[in-house]
Amino acid sequence: MDHFLYRDGQLMAEDVNIAEIAAQVGTPFYVYSTATLLRHFKLFDDALSGMDHLVCFAVKSLSNVAVLKLLGDAGAGMDVVSGGEYLRAKAAGVSGDKIVFSGIGKTREEMRLALEGGIRQFNVESEPEMEALSQVALSLNTVAPITVRVNPDVDAKTHAKISTGKKEDKFGIPISRAREVYAMAAKLPGLKVIGIDVHIGSQLTELEPFRLAYRKVAELTEQLRSDGHDITRLDLGGGLGIPYARDNNAPPLPREYGALIKEEVGHLGCEIEIEPGRLISGNAGLLVAKVIYVKSGEDREFLIVDAAMNDLVRPAMYDAWHDIVPVIEPAAGVDQTPYDVVGPICESGDTFAKGRMLPPLDPEALVGFRSAGAYSAVMSSEYNSRPLIPEVLVNGDQFAVIRRRPTFEDMINRDTIPEWM
Ligand code: LLP
Repeated sequence: MDHFLYRDGQLMAEDVNIAEIAAQVGTPFYVYSTATLLRHFKLFDDALSGMDHLVCFAVKSLSNVAVLKLLGDAGAGMDVVSGGEYLRAKAAGVSGDKIVFSGIGKTREEMRLALEGGIRQFNVESEPEMEALSQVALSLNTVAPITVRVNPDVDAKTHAKISTGKKEDKFGIPISRAREVYAMAAKLPGLKVIGIDVHIGSQLTELEPFRLAYRKVAELTEQLRSDGHDITRLDLGGGLGIPYARDNNAPPLPREYGALIKEEVGHLGCEIEIEPGRLISGNAGLLVAKVIYVKSGEDREFLIVDAAMNDLVRPAMYDAWHDIVPVIEPAAGVDQTPYDVVGPICESGDTFAKGRMLPPLDPEALVGFRSAGAYSAVMSSEYNSRPLIPEVLVNGDQFAVIRRRPTFEDMINRDTIPEWM
């Protein structure tokens, strides 16, 4: 459920009329709903109630500092994968002991940053990373708390580009080698082993892959404990999918996911962490664009809008579906027609949808792309020298620009012409 609904024929973001935001901010822009973000966080928090737990929001899905502050203030921890994300979480006021650092290529500078600023744990992904982290920690006279990310070799049954838990994927260490890697970690003086980490992929629409992975983690917990390791924390990753299209099968609910976690690992007495991103932020955001032209092709109508693949790359990159809704509610019974919805960028991949059934739309009409809270603004670029677009946060009947639209000068003046020219 989200908070983008029609009221009196107008698409609203909570109690704010989206057309009004467009009039003030210009198009295109992203708009996020406070109520939806908080609701989704709470669904996970409640799903793990009764267990010692921390829901760490995957910052990579939506990293605006205002959003991080909103979730941090509500009690969320943060899962970060770079020094930049770490500093964003800190800028949002999240304390280091609620920040988890994931990722396969942490640099020594990033490790230092996090150790100096405070960190809950590093999820390490290889032996060379363990050695580097131990050295950095010792150089700072400290000890780095770690989990090791294991790759359970489970098919997450999701898009190949966002699957991470199969043996051919670059993530984690093979679970078959886990005991020897933990033995090595225990010998490194700058590390303190506290747990196990696993993340098998994103946009999972079934629970079974999670069950298989968590069962393997539970077995490993017992083996590692019998080897003498003090395993007190399990980081179970993110990945629960969302319904992108209104009519597709509903993915499992956080409540069902939480029940599965209790079933599979509840008996171990560990503190549980999860790292959801998309389910919290995805349907909490809309990309709002304006129709520039309606163009007749040989056998189809093109709806050319002012947003493009640089603002929302998911359709081009993963063939992802995003519901498209007119901001003015179509009259009941109005005939829909198929449109290819495209952006102005000079490549055919700049296509949001083909043959999408929509009510007739004219230039200047506003449309919203749903499910654009996650992996949208964060994956945007300035391709075709299109400045990044603003982010707006709505809360009840108020809204605020939480990232302004840069001017052309802002964009151009970042380039410098060498003196010799
Ligand atoms: N934890 C780790 C270690 C991750 O790699 C990810 C996502 C998450 C948590 C959060 O997963 P989520 O709950 O959001 O599914 N750009 C792609 C998604 C890439 C996901 C990468 N890792 C997309 O637009 O679909």
